[in-house]
Amino acid sequence: MKCIYLFVLCLLAVNAVPLDNPTGQPGCQTEEELSVVNYRHLRNKTLYWICQEQGVPAALGQCPVAHGWLDDVKECVHFSLWYWTPTVQPPSQPAQVSA
Ligand SMILES: *[C@@H]1O[C@H](CO)[C@@H](O)[C@H](O)[C@H]1NC(C)=O
Repeated sequence: MKCIYLFVLCLLAVNAVPLDNPTGQPGCQTEEELSVVNYRHLRNKTLYWICQEQGVPAALGQCPVAHGWLDDVKECVHFSLWYWTPTVQPPSQPAQVSA
């Protein structure tokens, strides 16, 4: 019986770990996200996220050819001007993470 109890506890602990959100898609559930609007896509520098409506997960935006999203200026810049910025998870996450 004790083994089963520990097993259940372990499952609960795993579930409590924050949702794995590899793309950084914001859930757009906070005022902050709606005022910031655009967020970095964590996997593809030519893409970014757009929060348009509260509670609706961010939509995908795409930079023009040879441009990448630079989070420091919140704009697409030419690759020659692009540099790496730290990846940060947005304030809220979608109920279901999409790719
Ligand atoms: C990034 O996204 C663009 C547009 O969807 C795609 O063409 C490109 O292959 C992606 N790059 C990576 C590294 O996934």
